[in-house]
Amino acid sequence: MRVAVVGLGKIGLPLAVQYASKGCAVLGCDIDPSVVAAVNQGLSPVREEAELDAGLAREVAAGRLRATTDTSAAVAASEVVVVIVPLMVDHGPDRQLDYRALDCATRDVGRGLRPGALVIYETTLPVGATRGRLGPALAAASGLAPGRDFWLAFSPERVYSGRIFLDLRRYPKIVGGVDPESTARAAAFYRRVLEAEVIAVDSAETSEFSKLVETTYRDVNIALANEFALYAAQRGIDAQQAIDAANTQPYAHVHRPGLGVGGHCIPVYPYFLIHDAPEGMHLPRLARRVNDEMAGRGVWLLAEALGTLRGTTVLVLGLAYREDVKETAFSPAWTLVQELRRAGARPLVHDPLFSADELRRFELEPADLATLPPVDAVVLQAYHGRYRDLDWAAMPGRVVLDGRSVLDAAAIRAAGKRYLAIGRPPA
Ligand SMILES: NC(=O)c1ccc[n+]([C@@H]2O[C@H](COP(=O)([O-])OP(=O)(O)OC[C@H]3O[C@@H](n4cnc5c(N)ncnc54)[C@H](O)[C@@H]3O)[C@@H](O)[C@H]2O)c1
Repeated sequence: MRVAVVGLGKIGLPLAVQYASKGCAVLGCDIDPSVVAAVNQGLSPVREEAELDAGLAREVAAGRLRATTDTSAAVAASEVVVVIVPLMVDHGPDRQLDYRALDCATRDVGRGLRPGALVIYETTLPVGATRGRLGPALAAASGLAPGRDFWLAFSPERVYSGRIFLDLRRYPKIVGGVDPESTARAAAFYRRVLEAEVIAVDSAETSEFSKLVETTYRDVNIALANEFALYAAQRGIDAQQAIDAANTQPYAHVHRPGLGVGGHCIPVYPYFLIHDAPEGMHLPRLARRVNDEMAGRGVWLLAEALGTLRGTTVLVLGLAYREDVKETAFSPAWTLVQELRRAGARPLVHDPLFSADELRRFELEPADLATLPPVDAVVLQAYHGRYRDLDWAAMPGRVVLDGRSVLDAAAIRAAGKRYLAIGRPPA
């Protein structure tokens, strides 16, 4: 089976390797020539992805995976086309959608589309986009009709960067087409290339909605955990202990409180529903506000502990929105830095995944853990693997804000520092 994967990013490249490892002849397509060149040398431009380096080198050497910038030609040579180019959003308060990359990829796919091909979108989309926007764009560029001349489905990508191959083996694959034949063909494709269970749902819309249900649930759940943490702080209760205790009941799945929710997915996809339901989606709206306010609350906690932030130096550990992924989109670190500066503090940022020059390009002041200047407080924003064995006794600062409730509070106290956390009583 010949498969084109359009978009060789953090998700697309592992998918291309996965399909090749199942014997498909894969053509990976990307507009970035440096990505294409690296892939054709068997070198992954995506770091921190378990199994990817070895898998890519193996599949390229075996001749099962090749990359190209010519998407239309690759599509013309393929029976199945998987599109995993991001749908961007702007950084305004409403996160307006920016379809440019996806529309451009869709045009290129349409130009190469041949009768009988199956096109599957995996990029998270608003409900109705596969049938209402992308299908017609493919039809306009190809002169072919979906559901008659070619097959069209949506299947959300549910994997977690860093452990994509593991998740591909274990997370059920949800598939819904614009018609039953498209659903059946897409389900048959995934049964061939994945080991996970394949779940066919009624329609492309159900499939699109399932991803928004999954991600919005997580955002709302985290907001609830954050509200629990704020309440518990007033009562001097350890919220994390209470949540862990509650979660021993099988119906409770409360997530962890923290300094906020970042990344391209969880803080963004609720807006796909919110935009589409002007009168509804009250909880997702509120959850967004609660989660976005958490970084500011963290800064307020620091101000209270230090007396004032004016003239202080605060070290932020982790620019990435979460541990061990080199991604800054909507990271709570941005709000932390902004609020610290507004309060008159000097924020320093350390992140083992970013060089000092990369941090400077973001207009941040980089910190080197080996040669730190005097620091008043440290904030753990992203719990990178590198931070697991930090020697707190050797770290400067008299206050530590554990933004993820993961550090050893006793060790920090033993190092003579004040320990603060979202979700744990101060000590
Ligand atoms: N990153 C995640 O953790 C994650 C998890 C689940 C699902 N997803 C879904 O995967 C999508 C892609 O995410 P990602 O992290 O792989 O993005 P990414 O930014 O890492 O990669 C996107 C790639 O697409 C390429 N591209 C852009 N426009 C193109 C075009 N017109 N034609 C061909 N290639 C083009 C870019 O050059 C880049 O290499 C997301 O939008 C989301 O819907 C992501």
